[in-house]
Amino acid sequence: MIYNDFGKTGLSVSALGFGAAPIGLLKTEQDKVASIVNTLLDMGVNLIDTAAGYAGSEEALGNAVGHRRDEYILVSKCGRKSDDLPGEDWSPEVITATVDRALRRLKTNHLDVMLLHSCGLDVLQKGEALEALVKARDAGKIRFAGYSGDNETVAYSAALPDIAVIETSINLVDQANIEGLLPLTREYGIGVIAKRPVANAAWKSLDDQPGFYRDYAKTYHDRFKMMGLKLESLGLGEEVTDWAQVALRYTLSQEGVHTAIIGTTNPDNAQSNIEAANQGPLPKEALQKINDAFKEGQGLADETWKAQT
Ligand SMILES: NC(=O)c1ccc[n+]([C@@H]2O[C@H](COP(=O)([O-])OP(=O)(O)OC[C@H]3O[C@@H](n4cnc5c(N)ncnc54)[C@H](OP(=O)(O)O)[C@@H]3O)[C@@H](O)[C@H]2O)c1
Repeated sequence: MIYNDFGKTGLSVSALGFGAAPIGLLKTEQDKVASIVNTLLDMGVNLIDTAAGYAGSEEALGNAVGHRRDEYILVSKCGRKSDDLPGEDWSPEVITATVDRALRRLKTNHLDVMLLHSCGLDVLQKGEALEALVKARDAGKIRFAGYSGDNETVAYSAALPDIAVIETSINLVDQANIEGLLPLTREYGIGVIAKRPVANAAWKSLDDQPGFYRDYAKTYHDRFKMMGLKLESLGLGEEVTDWAQVALRYTLSQEGVHTAIIGTTNPDNAQSNIEAANQGPLPKEALQKINDAFKEGQGLADETWKAQT
């Protein structure tokens, strides 16, 4: 496994991380979650990303790997109210209570990172949501505060002194944050987690997407079609037959991306993603062809291809 310095946090993160949205939102069976996540840890993955909003995922992870807590960097997200917590969206009450609830659900006494889960610019400018995370940090409940989101809002967050980690969409069909954000995160020494790193398997037919992914993946699916990419024209040789590998390696090739958190409910995909991450960055020529296809696809579209949250 390849490891990268995680900005100025002092942590070292595996190039492949695990994203827990699908295991929560698609309600993957506990045995399968345990098998996938324990295998990933055994193979050197050391970052797990979850969120209060991925129903059941914090509990599933706590049950699956809570006993191995010193083997992974644990990231969760918060901000939205829920029926069992007092307070309004992005209020200090909700954020403080969500941190405490995450500790219980994830069977730990600290999170490494807690992110504000894609709040708007107004919330960041108001400041009290981030202040609640800073208090949790000062109390030792979290080690670092951060923001998960995209476009102008994530660029704004990068300059806030209390933001140590950013999670943002970066993949072959979602390139806006590469130029809009990464120069800033490099300048400020922020740890960067790439979300949606294999573009929700945009090459697949939407009919083959599970549950909510059918709608969620549509923008990426449409972009992928408009880009007209062909595996065989990337010059990667006949042994590369897998879009998932190319997509992951594209994301990990971006300077300043430290870990790419693929969501998967499939043990075989988890395994092949490790092998893909170990292949390292794509050659420059292939990156250029993908970037050119993005520009051409965007040129055919009616609107600018902004980053998708
Ligand atoms: N706003 C936010 O903060 C935000 C938003 C989105 C995502 N996230 C985080 O980022 C993580 C990743 O995003 P994501 O799950 O939306 O997208 P993703 O990782 O780009 O794509 C996940 C999809 O790709 C498929 N897949 C994974 N490995 C594959 C392989 N080797 N071959 C073929 N298909 C493969 C999965 O299907 P299988 O289950 O069949 O493998 C799943 O449907 C999330 O889990 C979550 O932790 C955060």
